[in-house]
Amino acid sequence: MTVPQIDPFHTISLSTVAHRLASEGRSIIHMEFGQPSTGAPEAAIARAHHVLDTDPMGYWESQPLRERIARHYMEQYGVTVSPERIVLTSGASPALLLALTSCFIPGARVALARPGYVAYRNTLRTLHMEPVEIVCGETERFQLTAALIDALEPPPEGLIVASPANPTGTVLSDPELAAIVAVCRRKKIRIVSDEIYHGLTFGEPAHSVLEYDQSAMVVNSFSKYFSMAPWRLGWLVAAEDRVDAVQARVGNLFLPPSSLSQHAGLVAFDCREELDEHVKTYKRNRDLLLAALPRWGLRHIAPPDGAFYIYADIGHLTGDSLTFCIRLLRDTGVATAPGVDFDPVEGRHFMRFSFAVSTALIEEAIRRMTPWFTAREKDAGS
Ligand SMILES: Cc1ncc(COP(=O)(O)O)c(C=O)c1O
Repeated sequence: MTVPQIDPFHTISLSTVAHRLASEGRSIIHMEFGQPSTGAPEAAIARAHHVLDTDPMGYWESQPLRERIARHYMEQYGVTVSPERIVLTSGASPALLLALTSCFIPGARVALARPGYVAYRNTLRTLHMEPVEIVCGETERFQLTAALIDALEPPPEGLIVASPANPTGTVLSDPELAAIVAVCRRKKIRIVSDEIYHGLTFGEPAHSVLEYDQSAMVVNSFSKYFSMAPWRLGWLVAAEDRVDAVQARVGNLFLPPSSLSQHAGLVAFDCREELDEHVKTYKRNRDLLLAALPRWGLRHIAPPDGAFYIYADIGHLTGDSLTFCIRLLRDTGVATAPGVDFDPVEGRHFMRFSFAVSTALIEEAIRRMTPWFTAREKDAGS
C-alpha cells in the first residue's frame, strides 16, 4: 500500500493571496470560506470569561452538553437519542474521521455527491477508502437522489449525505431523504450524514437522517449556525452498535475537545434569538446575490435553501476557475472559492460565493463585481 496522494484545498492558497493583499493595504472582502464573520454568541463568551477566571479545567467531556445535544434531537426532530451516543469532538472534521474509521475498513467503497465538500473525498483517500463519486448536476440541484444511489453497481458500503450541502446550499426534500434511506437499508449501505448546516435554512427546516435511520452516523458542529468555528467544537451521534468503537478511537486519536469551548457551547444552545438574527442576514445576502448574478450572466445556479453558499456556472467565461477567482480577487478585492475544490472535473467551470458576511459587505462586493463581470461577459460575447 502506498501513501495516498490527496489534492490541496485551493481556496486556502487563494485566501493566503487575499491576506497578503490586505497586508499591503488593499480592501479585501472575504467570501472564500464558509466562516461566519460574526463571533460566538455574547452569553457564550461571557461564560468562557467566567470559566477562565474560576476553573483550572482539565481533560473533560461535558455530560451536561451531551444531555443538551440529546435534548436538541427531541426538540428539533422528535427523535430520541441517548446522551451515551453523543461523542464530543473538536469540530465536524474529527467527527467525520471517527464516523468513517469506525464503520468502514480500508478498501471500502463510500459514495458521495460530486460536487461536494472537499474533505469528504480527501479524507476517504487518506484512510485508503475508495470515494465513489456520484455526478449530481443542475437538474438534481447538485444533490443525491435515491435513483442515483440505487443505480450503483456493486452497491457501496457507505454513503455520505449532506443537506444543506456545501458548495450549493441545496437541501434534500423530506421524501427524497426517506427514499435514500430506504435504498440504503435495502442494500445495507451505512449512511454518514453531515448535518453541519442544520439551523441555517431559509424555508422549511432540514430533516435529520435520524428521523428515518437510527443506524446512521451523524456529524454536526458549532462552526456554522452557532458561529463558533474557531472554538473547534462539534459532535458525532454514533449508531448504537458503533459507540464503543468511536469512544476507543476518540480516546486514542483525539481526547476530548477544549473544555473552555464545551462550557461556552452549552450556553450557545440557549442563544437562539441572537443566532437566528444571523440567519436573517444570510437570507438577505442570498436574495441580493440571487438578484445580481443573472445580471452578470450567471444564470445556471440552484438557489440555495440553506447554508451560506451559491455555486454558479461560469463555463461561458472560463475553463479554469482557480485562475478566474484569483483574477477576480486581484482586480476587485473580492475573495471567492474556485469550483475545482468541490468537483475536480466540472468544477473548472464553477465558482462558489460564500455570503456569511454582513449585508453591507455583500452590497459592496456586488458593487465591485458588477462592472468586472459585465466586462467579462462582453469579452465572451464578442
Ligand atoms: C460540509 C462541511 N462539513 C464539515 C466541515 C468542517 O467543519 P468544522 O469546522 O466543524 O470542522 C465544513 C467546513 O466548512 C463543511 O463545510
